[in-house]
Amino acid sequence: MSDLPFSPACERNREPILAVLREVFSSASQVLEIGSGTGQHAVYFSDALPDVTWHTSDVVDNHPGIAAWIAEHGAQNVVAPLALDVTMRPWPVPEGIDAAFSANTAHIMAWHEVCAMFAGLGSLLPSGAPFCLYGPFNINGEFTSASNREFNNSLRLRDPRMGIRDLRELKLLAADCGFTLDADHALPANNMLLVWRRGSD
Ligand SMILES: C[S@@+](CC[C@H](N)C(=O)[O-])C[C@H]1O[C@@H](n2cnc3c(N)ncnc32)[C@H](O)[C@@H]1O
Repeated sequence: MSDLPFSPACERNREPILAVLREVFSSASQVLEIGSGTGQHAVYFSDALPDVTWHTSDVVDNHPGIAAWIAEHGAQNVVAPLALDVTMRPWPVPEGIDAAFSANTAHIMAWHEVCAMFAGLGSLLPSGAPFCLYGPFNINGEFTSASNREFNNSLRLRDPRMGIRDLRELKLLAADCGFTLDADHALPANNMLLVWRRGSD
């Protein structure tokens, strides 16, 4: 267990995220996770949602860690990571994906990658399918807490293309890609779980 990559944040946020996913993914069968990171969320959520097949994905550098978590967990309904960088076209994903999840990616990706994520999901998901996006977000151009402002400053120092995204801008982007905001759940530590819903073409 000690060799596995470990994110303390995943341990803290997984339960409140799961409470929303249980409802939103109640009729989903094939969930694509974008930016699976360590793989902790994937094994936890797939275990709690046995009726879904959970497709992990990330850039290849993260695959050994994700695969190690899956192997350690031994679950049947979580799939080895797909080599998916959201800027790829087409996305190397299997047919039948009917829901998507991504955590703490929108502020790490450059804005053009966030656009690519929504565009890719807009092409992939069927009408009515949900996309759950977790992380910190700004509301009407304002940080929702001092800690999020400090976090944003640290991101910008790391890479000026990173940064906390504004919900208003995400709504405009999402609309261009065929999504509307179905729900915005306030979760602990000034994070949100945004539920986007794919409309009909
Ligand atoms: C802060 S980590 C979050 C990991 C995990 N979802 C979590 O909540 O702990 C950001 C993740 O986004 C992924 N990522 C960044 N740019 C990406 C891109 N262009 N395509 C796919 N994944 C990307 C990174 O590889 C990393 O796994």
